[in-house]
Amino acid sequence: MWRRGAHQRLQCWTGELDPPAAPAAGPPPLQRPAPLRQRRLDERRPGRDPARPGPRRGRHGHPAPASAARRTHDRARHRRRRHPRPRRAHGGRGGVRRGAAGPRRAGLRHHRGGGRGGISRAPLPPVPHLLHLRPGPSGRRRAADLRRPPGRPGRAGRRHLDAVRERGPDRLGRARLPRRLGERSRGPPLRAGPDDRGAAQSPADLRALRRRGRAARRGRPQDLHRRDPLRPRRRGRRQRRAHLVHHRPEGLHVSDPTSHPWWYDAVVYQVYVRSFADQQGDGIGDLPGITSRLPYLRDLGVDALWITPFYTSPQKDHGYDVADYTDVDPLFGTLADVDRLLEQAHELGLRVIVDLVPNHTSDQHAWFQAALAAGPGSPERARYIFRPGRGPAGELPPNNWDSVFGGPAWTRVDDGDWYLHLFDSSQPDLDWRNPEVGDMFEGVLRFWLDRGVDGFRVDVAHGLYKEATLRDQERPKEPEKLAESMVERVLQDEPMWDQPEVHDVYRRWRRVLDSYPGDRMAVAEAWTQTADPMAMFIRPDELHQAFNFGWLGTPWSADAFADVITESIAAVAAAASAPTWVLSNHDVERHPTRYGGGPVGLARARAATLLMLALPGSAYLYQGEEIGLEQVDVPPESRQDPSWFRTGKPGRDGCRVPLPWAGDAPPYGFGGAAGTQPWIPQPEGWAALTVEAQLADPGSTLAFYRQALRLRREVLAGADDDTAASTDGDVLVVRRPGIRAVLNAGTYPAPLPEGEVLISSGPLPGGVLPPDTAVWVR
Ligand code: GLC
Repeated sequence: MWRRGAHQRLQCWTGELDPPAAPAAGPPPLQRPAPLRQRRLDERRPGRDPARPGPRRGRHGHPAPASAARRTHDRARHRRRRHPRPRRAHGGRGGVRRGAAGPRRAGLRHHRGGGRGGISRAPLPPVPHLLHLRPGPSGRRRAADLRRPPGRPGRAGRRHLDAVRERGPDRLGRARLPRRLGERSRGPPLRAGPDDRGAAQSPADLRALRRRGRAARRGRPQDLHRRDPLRPRRRGRRQRRAHLVHHRPEGLHVSDPTSHPWWYDAVVYQVYVRSFADQQGDGIGDLPGITSRLPYLRDLGVDALWITPFYTSPQKDHGYDVADYTDVDPLFGTLADVDRLLEQAHELGLRVIVDLVPNHTSDQHAWFQAALAAGPGSPERARYIFRPGRGPAGELPPNNWDSVFGGPAWTRVDDGDWYLHLFDSSQPDLDWRNPEVGDMFEGVLRFWLDRGVDGFRVDVAHGLYKEATLRDQERPKEPEKLAESMVERVLQDEPMWDQPEVHDVYRRWRRVLDSYPGDRMAVAEAWTQTADPMAMFIRPDELHQAFNFGWLGTPWSADAFADVITESIAAVAAAASAPTWVLSNHDVERHPTRYGGGPVGLARARAATLLMLALPGSAYLYQGEEIGLEQVDVPPESRQDPSWFRTGKPGRDGCRVPLPWAGDAPPYGFGGAAGTQPWIPQPEGWAALTVEAQLADPGSTLAFYRQALRLRREVLAGADDDTAASTDGDVLVVRRPGIRAVLNAGTYPAPLPEGEVLISSGPLPGGVLPPDTAVWVR
């Protein structure tokens, strides 16, 4: 999945939609599928592990050093003896081939059952990114297309970009290529930057890490969660831990051998505060509104809620422009409202994650106002990234970077200095090389932890550090090949994102989080180019989770789903964490629309959700998906997303329309006077979608979500993490302990799998599994 993102776009910005795949005329006769061939996820290939070099080929196809190869080979042989791999056919019709770039980048190849030949996927994932992802036209794509997405650099280009990223440019901005290509055979993604201590790999370092792990297990607050009243008791924890152990490279540890913390397999519900529930009656959602709906969330069956920013803010980016990190904007309530919300959520057994925005402040933040007043060269300006301009009179921006929201990433102030803003000009980027910034955020973390929040969602977690020289971004000659922003994950030179220094920030935060009782956690919004650097954010001494955006961008295809499942689990296992799964959020087109919209889009969305809920790790749901909301085509005069104002493209308002709770006309019980519209107008025709209407209908999407979440607790709570994904044509089978989740992503009915059907995402007429439908079978 991570390899395929460049041409999957969630057209949240443009609103363009492709029609859903239409069945070809005349279904073929129904046949039992050939026996499925599996790849077991708990048997990662030697050489795939980023922490250990591959035995056969280095990253660029050059031989790895013999001793490393020997060691890896020995370890692999040992592992195979302890955990024998199911026999797999080689040669003949199938077989798994390696791509030219060698095992490190190539990752686990997914074997296709039932086809003519094995598909050898090319390496190097242009990773899909925020706002721009969607399945391809028909949800299917030829293997050749998958291998070389448009705009992806060739092998030489990739080498160049890797070299720029790793070693920095020379004085002329050219990549400094390694002198001997062999020296890079360990591959970069999990390799440490200069001050990246966590990736140390010498035997002494590894011993120290193990010691640290043991000490942490003895004394650290993880143990306290056993006394935590919020934590439900589980069976079978030993088993799951046992499974994880053999994913773990030497030197890494798990927090506790007998249990997992609450977030490990939690279902987290994202509340976009402005659009959830409005109790103050001004057309904008608020904290008392959330509190009033907590019983709804408990009954839905989620474990936690993540609330988007409610801090003091001029709302230019709807809260992601913070003017005071330790106070509540009057739009949303007061600090006392936060306390009430936390108390009631905890009473109902729900955890609460709040949003933290460390990359930038609002231009109304006291620090930025002081910086403007103090003038060039002042210590106040040193908290942000102010620079003189280029050109004879400094009239040109300091470099060629673009803002994620369109236009240049620099704005000039009256005295001639320029400041950097990777988002809107009202969101100046902080300079994390200034120690004052780190100290300020430690205070912010402690402020909310002291109030009792259970965790943080870290906004733009990969953005805090920029390459120190602030050099120009190397751009392809053809402008259309340049990803417009961080949201479009093609492999390209990115001196503004994902710098190695950022990991020290998260080590510091981890120490802070661990010093509080009750398994406080943090989840990273890190849009990395591949899964491996994503996994660096969740190493044992950094953050706990990272959003798996690769899953969100997966096209409608059994093979693509199988690939992303395999690769995501492998990537996070190397970091000793659990995967996360997310299909929608406040930045991307809602997934029923992405999957084609209308009845087909909804059927696919329900099927994808059912599949997701069967996977190990935790699932993040976005408000409104449980009632099957689609992306709304918000009329231009009502659009409010800053990106709309900067680019003229529709932006993200269509996934942020306030929820319909009850009634048959706007505001559909959202809050505010009858007949008035909330901050983004709701469409006519939502009456059948309201929570009230769906609660009364056992066939509704809401009833389906509630049933699926209940079953997940009943059937999978405490289950071993073991997962095996396999495909047979368009049918995907995910095996978990005790159940199989089976999805028909094709256009013809497939045989219903044998066994007891526990739940299905849609009707099962005539004993077959219809297209766009998933089931759990025991
Ligand atoms: C994150 C948020 C997005 C916001 C941006 C800038 O990507 O999810 O909504 O606009 O950061 O803070």
